[in-house]
Amino acid sequence: MRENHNTQASTKAVILVGGPSRGTRFRPLSLDVPKPLFEVAGHPIIHHCLKAVAKVPDVREVILVGYYDESVFRDFIKDASKEFPQLRILYLREYTALGTAGGLYHFRDAILKGKPERLLVLNADVCCSFPLGEMMRLFEEKDAEAVILGTRVSNDTATNFGCIVSDSHTKRVLHYVEKPESHISNLINCGVYLFATECIFPAIRSAIKRRTTRPRLLSYPSSDNLESSFVATGDDEDAEKSEVLRLEQDILSDLADSNRFFVHETKDFWRQIKSAGSAVPANALYLQKAFQAESPELTAPSATIVPPVYIHPTASIDPTAKLGPNVSIGPRVVVGAGARVKDSIVLEDSEIRHDACVMHSIIGWSSRVGAWARVEGTPIPVGSHSTSIVKQGIKVQSITILGKECGVGDEVRVQNCVCLPYKELKRDVSNEVIM
Ligand code: GDD
Repeated sequence: MRENHNTQASTKAVILVGGPSRGTRFRPLSLDVPKPLFEVAGHPIIHHCLKAVAKVPDVREVILVGYYDESVFRDFIKDASKEFPQLRILYLREYTALGTAGGLYHFRDAILKGKPERLLVLNADVCCSFPLGEMMRLFEEKDAEAVILGTRVSNDTATNFGCIVSDSHTKRVLHYVEKPESHISNLINCGVYLFATECIFPAIRSAIKRRTTRPRLLSYPSSDNLESSFVATGDDEDAEKSEVLRLEQDILSDLADSNRFFVHETKDFWRQIKSAGSAVPANALYLQKAFQAESPELTAPSATIVPPVYIHPTASIDPTAKLGPNVSIGPRVVVGAGARVKDSIVLEDSEIRHDACVMHSIIGWSSRVGAWARVEGTPIPVGSHSTSIVKQGIKVQSITILGKECGVGDEVRVQNCVCLPYKELKRDVSNEVIM
């Protein structure tokens, strides 16, 4: 039992940003920008996480933990520190991929500095409304050791995630299995947690100790490969030395054995941002959220603006072009007369010439879409957690993506394609990866 029930007790937050060997499914966009900094709805993906954390009254420090180079988040942190002056934001770099719990443990002294009572942990690659206030309330109400954010997905996709079996009445987590082989529940782990600091670090320590007595896994089920140093050797000394630990496999199932692990089920939107194409539904969901909140950042609806639409102030949009819904237009983008853009992200310095049509697509930095050209993907069904579709027996991306500095010729049609940077498309293409 925690002794201090003071609701003002301090909370720190950690955002797990991963590193360059992860996020390979985010190619070709991650070739030019680290995934956490890719902009959806006008802001880097991690900005949306940070904005939610900044609303929790007693959070004063947010630590980004990952294994990108030190310089990667420097400008982001500088800007975010101005925007959220109440927060101290810092980046701590793992020397190698330590896994979702390994980094927490490695940096435990920095995290525990100032003796925070609670620790919020957010996966950087999720898009949701981050109901952190509700999670905090449940945490206090139940005197919890841990609260996890959960959401319901369809039965056939549930096994792609961590699955939670809970008592619907008490909200207690009874059982947790990471990406189970067969169906156990359609309530899944959203990748957002609140832990009592006095419980999580001892739990990680116990997991490390258990390594010496239990047979170890050869690899962890993860939707990306964990390209790390963790290899089963059966050598106990190595096991103790290895700092690679996964919150999901090594810690959460054991927390479920305690009686103080609870789930807050969100009914609001939630998506993973894994493939490059998944940035399009994330963009739409964040724009819709901003629209509901009457955000002044969005462009006012009109005959040619179907909300929600975000246009960077430096972009130049012809008044006869029609944009929206669910469109983000980046800095210095030029959109010509009669162009149509829908359900898409248009990245900075790109140009969409007159009468071109862009739908369900991402137009990479400094790319050009010619006059009367059509760049289009296939709409993703509402509620779907996948951005791939099967066309002519082949699995292809439903979202068309042009990498950096691509060119689409006048009147050319590009459909369900992923186009690597610096390519010129001079003929019609569909269902292809253009390398
Ligand atoms: N710092 C750091 N170090 N971060 C990491 C590392 C690491 O070694 N490995 C992964 N991450 C970060 C990723 O950048 C991502 O934000 C998050 O941790 C989870 O990544 P994965 O390990 O690839 O897990 P996943 O996305 O397949 O599944 C997790 O998230 C799902 C929700 O999106 C699990 O928690 C699932 O249970 C959950 O349903």
